[in-house]
Amino acid sequence: MILNLNIPKHAAIIMDGNGRWAKARSLPIIAGHRAGEKAAEDVVKRAAEIGIEYITLFTFSSENWQREQDWVEEFIGLLRWYLQHSIDKLMKNNVRLKVIGDRSTFAKDLQDMIADMENRTQNNTGITVILALSYGGRDDIRRATQKIAMDVEKGIIRSEDITEDLITQNLDTHFCPDPDLLIRTSGDLRVSNYLLWQMAYTEYVFVDCFWPDFGAKQLDLAIEQYSKRHRRYGLYSVAA
Ligand code: IPE
Ligand code: IPE
Ligand code: MG
Repeated sequence: MILNLNIPKHAAIIMDGNGRWAKARSLPIIAGHRAGEKAAEDVVKRAAEIGIEYITLFTFSSENWQREQDWVEEFIGLLRWYLQHSIDKLMKNNVRLKVIGDRSTFAKDLQDMIADMENRTQNNTGITVILALSYGGRDDIRRATQKIAMDVEKGIIRSEDITEDLITQNLDTHFCPDPDLLIRTSGDLRVSNYLLWQMAYTEYVFVDCFWPDFGAKQLDLAIEQYSKRHRRYGLYSVAA
């Protein structure tokens, strides 16, 4: 079925609803995140199979730091465990790993682990998996603005040189194209400060299941929906 479909080059996903999934099963919340990690693996595998080149997974937002301290500690513990244990699998599957977000907010050992994983996987030629960690769309734009302002201060560029392209080049996502497709699970209809600049012309698909219940089949269905969309980028009148 998938063969005749228009496959997005870059899919961005808001993996939401892990907590509600666990709660519905009377499980500890962290069990929802563990199940979510398994779903992410299945979805990345399917995405690679069907030829998606970049997949960006909203894993931890800049606002999520403000959740209860116990939750944050447990979640970061799981993240650390995942990063420690996934390198062999990433190499075996030829995955290139990238991280976007403000990594300076993480402990030094985590920052080092992230840099090490990016370095070790940088020459892999399969799918690029982009983890959004401590990521916020507004914060991304803020940090890009700061970098550009510093270049103006130093006289490297003039303020009139600031173009949309220059802003794009200074965002965390400078190495990949804008997402073609956004998928959000959990039934909530919002983007929660995800890739705000980058999703100006992205097609949105909202799915009514919790993230741990999302898998290869649901990804195929979302792509089927995406395939039926007509992207116009403001360039055509529908009536014409
Ligand atoms: C999404 O699951 C993952 C993160 C935000 C880290 P949630 O923890 O937001 O789960 P719900 O939305 O509360 O069910
Ligand atoms: C978005 O989900 C962030 C991640 C999936 C990591 P949230 O659960 O944090 O978003 P809100 O609070 O429902 O807007
Ligand atoms: Mg949520």
